[in-house]
Amino acid sequence: MKQHLDKVEKIVESYDCEPSNLIAIMQEIQTEFNYLSEAALTRVAEMLEIPISRVYSVATFYENFSLEAKGEHIIKVCTGTACHVRKSEPIYNALREELKLTGKRKTSDDGKFTLETVACLGACGLAPVMTIDGEVHSKMTPEAAVALIGEIRRKEA
Ligand code: FES
Repeated sequence: MKQHLDKVEKIVESYDCEPSNLIAIMQEIQTEFNYLSEAALTRVAEMLEIPISRVYSVATFYENFSLEAKGEHIIKVCTGTACHVRKSEPIYNALREELKLTGKRKTSDDGKFTLETVACLGACGLAPVMTIDGEVHSKMTPEAAVALIGEIRRKEA
């Protein structure tokens, strides 16, 4: 946690502790940690000398900000029209099953994978498309998607 907050402090300082840079600061913290922890947001509010409620209202207003810890690998399955028509939903469902995600849970128990959807990745000609850590995988099938997860697990075992 100390390291986490040290990094947060460095980021805030790099923006001269200037409240008008709040969004940029939060974006950089999210890029660094994949999410905005409660401790990080509290520290930001203290250092910028602004109410914590203001920080939370920004964090919850913008969809790109996440208040939930994410896994080491971020998987995004495209649910845009072209991908939907070419059956992206079974891919998403197969991954949910593989990662044993139930209800609203998006992150696997081992903290390795977070599964999300995305509106359109701009690669409709390659539908159905998914990304893992930003790398695009095209013309996916449920089997191929699950195999990619297996490959990552094997590499990291
Ligand atoms: S709809 Fe999936 S990439 Fe455009």
